Amino acid sequence: MDNNIYPIYDRMMTREDKEQLLHQRGMMIWFTGLSGSGKSTVAIGVERELHRRGILCRILDGDNIRTGINAGLGFSAEDRRENIRRIAEVGKLFVDTGIVTLAAFVSPTNEYRQLARDIIGADDFFEIYISTPLEECERRDVKGLYARARRGEVKDFTGISAPFEAPKHPALDIDTSQLPLEVSVGRVVELIERRPLPPAPPEGGE
Ligand code: ADX
Repeated sequence: MDNNIYPIYDRMMTREDKEQLLHQRGMMIWFTGLSGSGKSTVAIGVERELHRRGILCRILDGDNIRTGINAGLGFSAEDRRENIRRIAEVGKLFVDTGIVTLAAFVSPTNEYRQLARDIIGADDFFEIYISTPLEECERRDVKGLYARARRGEVKDFTGISAPFEAPKHPALDIDTSQLPLEVSVGRVVELIERRPLPPAPPEGGE
């Protein structure tokens, strides 16, 4: 294969250029938690609030990833790992474009989340544990999957017949059965806003 693919990086605009342009810092906000715990709901609330404040965001979730780039992947340990690996690689492209990227995936094990952290880089990776208890997720059963899993119709279902490991040191732990949505959203927004902005571009500069 032609190995002349690397020099192009010398000519591409950098992440810093893009962060200056957008006047924001790229980062990955990685939500982990059981199905139905509220990951996507909190991520959507955060996106709306940041958008209102003029910050460009991108949500990655099952709707746009498992139906697209990861269509064809299932829920075996191997497929989940590949799901997370690809999400992290795609997420890194957004982070490197200066975008606040919100990933909402079960990502059930420390190993998968560590893989995502390694790909994205620890400095840009913020893990948010949506710790809503299983009983509450099962009570909500938004997609009817818990009932089906209990009947044995869905195999390897996280929390029922497949493991979920709570993260050891999340940046935030949010139980959506205990907090109103605005409070959960506010905590994440505050974490994001704590990061210093890039210096403003020079007057009349690019
Ligand atoms: S992950 O484990 O690979 O991170 P991901 O977040 O992409 O999972 O997908 C989880 C969603 O897929 C759940 O919210 C649920 O709607 C659906 N789903 C279907 N089968 C399963 C299963 N066996 N285990 C967990 N979630 C499942």
